[in-house]
Amino acid sequence: MKKILVLDGSTRKQGNTSVLLQHFIEGAKNNTQDIHHEFAKEIDIKYCNGCLRCNLIKRCSIRDDDWSDLSQKIDEADVLVFASPIYFHYVSAPLKNIIDRFRSFVHVQITETGLIHTPFNEWNKDFVLLLSMGSSDDSDAQPVIDLFEYMKKVLGEKNRLHVIKATRLAVIKQLQKTEQELKDLYPKLKLDENLAEKDFVKNQKFLDQCFALGDKLSKK
Ligand SMILES: Cc1cc2nc3c(=O)[nH]c(=O)nc-3n(C[C@H](O)[C@H](O)[C@H](O)COP(=O)(O)O)c2cc1C
Repeated sequence: MKKILVLDGSTRKQGNTSVLLQHFIEGAKNNTQDIHHEFAKEIDIKYCNGCLRCNLIKRCSIRDDDWSDLSQKIDEADVLVFASPIYFHYVSAPLKNIIDRFRSFVHVQITETGLIHTPFNEWNKDFVLLLSMGSSDDSDAQPVIDLFEYMKKVLGEKNRLHVIKATRLAVIKQLQKTEQELKDLYPKLKLDENLAEKDFVKNQKFLDQCFALGDKLSKK
């Protein structure tokens, strides 16, 4: 049975990120019950303090928080799901805090021309990025995609990245609104009411994509 670990970077539980995640998890439940969901904001993860002792001891030197338990779950997962609203072209702060601690999975060597990264364990995982964003244009998510392209590579050449970028979601639960609710909402957001019909279909497509990806990646 595939092991799925969800790192949920949403800052509110009923937001669009949560709706994307719910659909991914529903799809995954078709094939596995081994799904663990961590709400980044609620676990005790201290900031990486840059001591770089991990380069020597092959684990994080911070011991008085939840990282030791979380890092074991990360290591054991077949599928790592990172879900976040886009905040200023990046992931939310609670998720970034966890990502910085991934430093302890990789040995880094400084050379004259750059850095050489060698993972302590070569992973062969599916990395999933579920991103919810206010902008109509998905380019605001590019810095996050660049980060994950880099992360999946330094953690093992066999890792794979899957991305869903859900755009034009400015208010809470917008993904779940009916076509009529979007038509009522859009003038208040100064958006053309005529976009609502197309966006309703688009939003359903995002949710279907999340469900299908959850189903696909949870199969043996
Ligand atoms: C502090 C902050 C910064 C944001 N920055 C961006 C941004 O750079 N690009 C974008 O497309 N949306 C941005 N947004 C909008 C959110 O990403 C969007 O509303 C998202 O759907 C919220 O997800 P949630 O409902 O799960 O909280 C920002 C929102 C906040 C509160």
